[in-house]
Amino acid sequence: MRRMESPVADGDRRVADARLRPFDVASRLTVPTRPRTTHAARRCPIATVAGSGTSTAQTLHFAESYVTEDLVLRTARSLAHEVGLEAVTAGAGAALRLLAAAGSARAVVEIGTGTGVSGVWLLRGMRADGVLTTIDVEVEHQRIARRIFTEAGFAAGRTRIITGRALDVLPRLADGAYDLVFVDAEATGFAACVDAALRLLRPGGVVALNGTLAGGRIGDPAARDVETVTVREAIKAIRESEHWIPALLPVGHGLLAAVKC
Ligand SMILES: C[S@@+](CC[C@H](N)C(=O)[O-])C[C@H]1O[C@@H](n2cnc3c(N)ncnc32)[C@H](O)[C@@H]1O
Repeated sequence: MRRMESPVADGDRRVADARLRPFDVASRLTVPTRPRTTHAARRCPIATVAGSGTSTAQTLHFAESYVTEDLVLRTARSLAHEVGLEAVTAGAGAALRLLAAAGSARAVVEIGTGTGVSGVWLLRGMRADGVLTTIDVEVEHQRIARRIFTEAGFAAGRTRIITGRALDVLPRLADGAYDLVFVDAEATGFAACVDAALRLLRPGGVVALNGTLAGGRIGDPAARDVETVTVREAIKAIRESEHWIPALLPVGHGLLAAVKC
């Protein structure tokens, strides 16, 4: 009579067999080989997309509108337009929110409140108990921003709105007490604001400068206007400084972000 074996016993034997024949086991783990392809056919998929005729403008537009703005942000943006200000783009705003969230930012300094577009993006990335200290010379811009912050649902205690010139106000802020410093005012103040940021930030904190593509002229060696030269010198100094780990993000009008070492 044929002896019946339990499935367990069968399984045990298969394991034992596998131990005795290690090469058989190894062969089962081998990744199946695929037919050889030509060098051209093995191109990176991204390169294939770029070569398929999608325009740079279309791609940038997609990236800018990837994260959409709600009614509060659209209102703040349209008010900025009415008073003649250029607020951060949605792409730059999303990058600011990301930087604030990645650093679990609790204390942020913003130079250039405007009508509150960038402020709302920053607050939405910060910790729930975080405070945005935002500075602007124009009290009228800040009056609008204050309303926008309220409309966005932020309690008054979440913002510290200071009216004044950045270079007069920044010396009053505490050393090493901030996680993020965002600069969105005149380019001529960039270098001084970066010096201030180095003092204000904790190690690992981030400075971000908006407008660092200088209206698209930054990479043009023939562009020698004051704004372009000023931006060029400021971002070069950051790149060459041992105090910063920088990246120039091509979102909006160019967002240079640098981590304090
Ligand atoms: C481009 S707007 C800021 C827009 C704002 N960050 C946003 O995205 O909604 C620049 C702002 O910087 C302010 N500003 C210009 N020079 C300044 C300075 N030296 N100190 C403080 N604020 C300044 C202007 O009044 C203006 O409101």
